[in-house]
Amino acid sequence: MSVIAEIEDLRRLYQRRTPRMFCDFVESGSWSEQTLRANTGDFKHLRLRQRVAVDMSNRSTRTTMIGQDAAMPVALAPVGLTGMQCADGEIKAARAAEKFGVPYTLSLLSICSIEDVAEHTTRPFWFQVYTLKDEDFMRRLFDRARAAQCAAIVITLDLQVLGQRHKDLHNGLSAPPRLTLRNLANIMTKVQWGLGMLGTKRRAFGNVVGHAKGVTDPGSISAWTAEAFDETLDWDRVAQFRDMWGGKLILKGILDVEDAIKAADLGVDAIIVSNHGGRQLDGAMSSIRMLPQIVDAVGDRVEVHMDGGIRSGQDVLKALSLGARATHIGRAFTYGLGAMGEEGVTRALQVIHKELDTTMALCGARDVHDLGPDNLIIPQGFDDPTVTL
Ligand SMILES: Cc1cc2nc3c(=O)[nH]c(=O)nc-3n(C[C@H](O)[C@H](O)[C@H](O)COP(=O)(O)O)c2cc1C
Repeated sequence: MSVIAEIEDLRRLYQRRTPRMFCDFVESGSWSEQTLRANTGDFKHLRLRQRVAVDMSNRSTRTTMIGQDAAMPVALAPVGLTGMQCADGEIKAARAAEKFGVPYTLSLLSICSIEDVAEHTTRPFWFQVYTLKDEDFMRRLFDRARAAQCAAIVITLDLQVLGQRHKDLHNGLSAPPRLTLRNLANIMTKVQWGLGMLGTKRRAFGNVVGHAKGVTDPGSISAWTAEAFDETLDWDRVAQFRDMWGGKLILKGILDVEDAIKAADLGVDAIIVSNHGGRQLDGAMSSIRMLPQIVDAVGDRVEVHMDGGIRSGQDVLKALSLGARATHIGRAFTYGLGAMGEEGVTRALQVIHKELDTTMALCGARDVHDLGPDNLIIPQGFDDPTVTL
């Protein structure tokens, strides 16, 4: 068994074991990938304050997210096509999250359906939706989420149109994969992946196929997005969806103070400061640099979470120190899943937990709730988007 010391170890294994088109799908950002790079790069501008001779016994990473207990302030972000990274991927990731004691968010664009995941887990998970033109389908999605006892709906607001990722176009990304000669030649080298896929029936968009009317090509994300997503979405419509669901609600994809204030005005339970992992508006600021001013503006009214660029427990600690109530990881757990299935997601969570716990100790903090800007050395202008670091 390979030694897994850090997320990068999982990433290397992942790249060896997963077909190129799905690796490219995960690794890519939109256009020039400037925002993708900034998400990880800006964490490095923040340095940690080393403290000594502080009682560091009895540390705790436990917290709550929207009133739900969690072993650490890290949730699994919605990742579309997770079930193409590894057979039955959503079920495996949800089970790993459940055993570890952190929230799992199922994407609307998952391979395993809401019902599949509910059947194979015992803890309520969160369900992420995009807002679609088909009102009837949206209502039925919320009904299905209620029947599956989902604990929260996450509405993603930053993808009404799809940011272009060049490699997905070149690869002809679809689920199930289109078997061109090039794709087939690559898939043949991924034996474990192929055997897994042969052994499952779940190979298409489980929440959509057979449920959405008149969708002619749910195999291709770009075609589906162009057809089904509602470009007229505005804040009134978001409020209608809030009322239609009636339960705990999280708004994802907030990167601007004015939008954060509008989201908080709707009385939602949490917002996620996010730029979709650098996959939508290329050129947008990194999430970590936008976090402080959003926390300042609405942190007393709504839980402020963040995602984008988290690859270690140190990154989690930095986000918490800048005021995030919790963080979400996308690629970090997906690497684990493609590398080693459910066990790999567990490893990813263990790695991040251990790094968070040890880093807290070395910073002289015993509880995640005690972290604050005092634990960091923050470069001047970090929270000012007009300053180039
Ligand atoms: C391959 C991939 C697929 C994604 N699919 C979705 C999705 O279906 N819905 C959504 O709201 N966000 C989606 N995201 C964005 C993630 O939820 C999250 O915002 C992002 O991955 C965080 O950045 P990180 O990967 O650096 O942790 C996706 C991200 C990746 C990498």
